[in-house]
Amino acid sequence: MMKISIFGLGYVGVVSAACLASRGIKIVGVDINEEKVRMMQEGISPIIEKDLPELLTAGKEKQLIEATGNTQQAIQDTELSIICVGTPSRANGSLDTKFIKNVCQEIGEALKDKQEKHILVFRSTMLPGTMREIVIPSLEKASGKIQNQEFYVAYNPEFLREGSAVNDFNHPPKTVVGADSEEIADEVMTIYEGLPGPRIKTEIEIAEMVKYVDNNFHALKITFANEIGRMCKKIGIDSHKVMDIFVQDTKLNISPAYLKPGFAFGGSCLPKDLRAISYLAKMNDIETPLLNAIIPSNNMQILNAIKRIIQMEKHKIGIAGFSFKEGTDDLRESPMIEIIETLIGKGYDVKLYDRNISMARLIGANKEYINHRIPHISSLLVESIDDLLAHSEVLVIGNNDKEFVRIVEESTPDQIVFDLVRIMEVEDGKGNYDGICW
Ligand SMILES: NC(=O)c1ccc[n+]([C@@H]2O[C@H](COP(=O)([O-])OP(=O)(O)OC[C@H]3O[C@@H](n4cnc5c(N)ncnc54)[C@H](O)[C@@H]3O)[C@@H](O)[C@H]2O)c1
Repeated sequence: MMKISIFGLGYVGVVSAACLASRGIKIVGVDINEEKVRMMQEGISPIIEKDLPELLTAGKEKQLIEATGNTQQAIQDTELSIICVGTPSRANGSLDTKFIKNVCQEIGEALKDKQEKHILVFRSTMLPGTMREIVIPSLEKASGKIQNQEFYVAYNPEFLREGSAVNDFNHPPKTVVGADSEEIADEVMTIYEGLPGPRIKTEIEIAEMVKYVDNNFHALKITFANEIGRMCKKIGIDSHKVMDIFVQDTKLNISPAYLKPGFAFGGSCLPKDLRAISYLAKMNDIETPLLNAIIPSNNMQILNAIKRIIQMEKHKIGIAGFSFKEGTDDLRESPMIEIIETLIGKGYDVKLYDRNISMARLIGANKEYINHRIPHISSLLVESIDDLLAHSEVLVIGNNDKEFVRIVEESTPDQIVFDLVRIMEVEDGKGNYDGICW
């Protein structure tokens, strides 16, 4: 029978103990708080949470749950530990890792005397890099042993919600395990054998980041819905009717759409409609700081791209794709135009390629706009990717037209490819390739 020690008998620890015991795993709970240890020894829940008392009583009766204040003993008696001590905020907002450091010190000392393999699974929420920079070095120092050789670590973010924690444990939205090897990730996954939802094995740092992305997104969604709600209330519309319709769109709204990091948005709709709704809010004396922050943040993405190109210290720039997205000749509020105009203004030797724009220059509704409103830009158009490759020291990929894959493949090592859209998966460290935010 598998035996697991759980460090930190707070919300996460107690729920994990009770739920894992209900799956037939033998649990040793560990806490520095003697009262919590005593309660767990008696099968009494130290926290209020639905279904927990019953599970703890059942676990106690089956002799599957023990508790102790003795770390040494807990490490000796188990083959795997789950660590879920608190990681509170300091007054300045930074993450307080003192409990993590302490628990690593204690576990490290206990590992000194242990011959058998031991896996440490961290579930406390920690900023990316904490495992590599704090947890692993602390454990290695205290134990005198080396991670990945004499003991192993994994990061396994926790997604339960207080109030429905037991149900969430048994029906996780996903199970994510970050580890340095596939084998260790597989071993950790066995704890959750049979639970529903996707199971994802990844790098430690990615697993650490996922937890924050999730929680920040939840906060963003709540705040977004509340700003829409405030506005609807003021203008006499039922916000719940609006949002009920909003969430039924699982193609563009509640979906993976628009969630890939890349370049700024533009085009004839998003900027205009954001401005209109912000103005409506202003007219009605409604504060919508979240919505108001979107355009400035989007502008920063454009400025960031310009800054990066300037820092490359090259003179000949080739831009591939400058309508706001692939497959269109619409240049209204294309953020690429801003990049191009800034570079021209600073005296760069810029050439452009976009087959849709070349075509639209000859025919179509945008002909007038391209030839007369932005002649300074359209005069820089070249007719082929080969022309662009021949001209440029820096090649900027501005939209997702798949013909631009060639640029990554055929650029020479002395040309820099600056990709704003992740046109393809490029191996880490390919010298001349630079992604805007990856
Ligand atoms: N509460 C939630 O819903 C939730 C959900 C997901 C993730 N998390 C994360 O999980 C972690 C734990 O959260 P929580 O709400 O259970 O915290 P909590 O504060 O309720 O419990 C933490 C426990 O750790 C104990 N502890 C501290 N140092 C210890 C040590 N050296 N050895 C043994 N025990 C020690 C404390 O005495 C306390 O009982 C945090 O990082 C939190 O962000 C919490």
